[in-house]
Amino acid sequence: MKLLVTGGAGFIGSNFIRLFLATNPDAVIFNFDKLTYAGNLANLADVENQPNYRFVRGDICDEAAVDNVFAESFDAVVHFAAESHVDRSIAGAREFIRTNVEGTLVLLEAARKRKIPRFVHVSTDEVYGSISPKQTAGEDSPLAPNSPYAASKAAADLLVRSYIRTHQFPAIITRSTNNYGPYQFPEKLIPLMISNALEGKKLPVYGDGLNERDWIFVEDHCRAIDAVLQKGKLGEIYNIGSGRPVPNIGIVRSLLKLLDKPEGLIEFVQDRPGHDRRYALDDSRIRRELGWSPVADLDNGLKHTVEWYRSHMDWVHQTKSGEYQQYYEKFYVNRRATLAEL
Ligand code: NAD
Ligand code: DAU
Repeated sequence: MKLLVTGGAGFIGSNFIRLFLATNPDAVIFNFDKLTYAGNLANLADVENQPNYRFVRGDICDEAAVDNVFAESFDAVVHFAAESHVDRSIAGAREFIRTNVEGTLVLLEAARKRKIPRFVHVSTDEVYGSISPKQTAGEDSPLAPNSPYAASKAAADLLVRSYIRTHQFPAIITRSTNNYGPYQFPEKLIPLMISNALEGKKLPVYGDGLNERDWIFVEDHCRAIDAVLQKGKLGEIYNIGSGRPVPNIGIVRSLLKLLDKPEGLIEFVQDRPGHDRRYALDDSRIRRELGWSPVADLDNGLKHTVEWYRSHMDWVHQTKSGEYQQYYEKFYVNRRATLAEL
């Protein structure tokens, strides 16, 4: 299978590429990524020299660049590229609309023109908005996004849906809950809390800390995307979760215990505007139809994640300081970053 992966230098995309190449050794992957602040090629240092992996630097909003990469004939596209952080979307929504909506449109058009047989659009449970206690959102639940990020993802989902209906476009949408694990940018709750605690800094918990998220270990999400890619029904939507929403303060306390750090580091700070109280999914469709279920339980997943960050503090420091952005210059500029060189 020859795959085009967008946003493969980010957190989930890099975990997906590593896992997919390990479990599908005959696969060929082109990783098309703009390398924004969230894209870090060091995340894929262990596969960068494999002959069946190629990195192409490009912006999904750039029609010419996208058209160029589609000159390769792909069996499928897995579309991760996005602006992904809610707090950044509150500070400024423009880039979220540009990449998440306009960029998705550019990819849909290019894939349609080239008759790509499968397009997996990676979306999020945030499109359903905040879910009442004891309720879950199913794939047919109404879309009710509350942050500009969530609205941009919902808009992209609707565009994909319109291409499925209007053009019989062969797409599948996935909507996952909150991911955690190695290589997550330390602006998101779990890596921020771990790295702050390791550096002896305060742990800023928004509001009362009782907002709930359903955490899934990133490799479980990647296995779900693999299952959707290989066996998913075209035109379908698949929710992906772990079925166990947990309050943020519970996560933070667990992390402190694993790190052997005092709870006095916790600092309750002003709440996030429009902060969704609870995410919870009904993901029985993917479990029933594709036989997928998560493997990692939260306790083991958090333990593994804490150990990973503890032993990769150089990665954390490079990421926080922006130093990792030189990685691209160092390793790729004169090698194979441009399509012409491939
Ligand atoms: P991330 O922010 O870590 O990575 C995003 C990647 O996309 C980066 O490598 C970045 O350089 C690239 N990118 C951004 N704009 C681009 C553009 N215009 N052109 C090309 N590349 C661009 O994000 P993530 O957490 O890995 O999330 C990946 C996808 O999964 C996103 O679509 C996100 O909405 C979705 N998702 C994330 C989670 C989560 O918990 N992190 C949960 C559900 C769904
Ligand atoms: O649900 C899936 C979504 O999960 C993805 O679509 C997003 O890309 C991803 O960023 C994530 O969104 P959240 O807003 O849920 O994740 P974040 O890690 O930013 O925050 C998780 C919870 O922790 C949320 O309730 C806000 C809270 N929080 C977050 C930060 C960064 C804090 O209390 N303090 C913090 O410093």
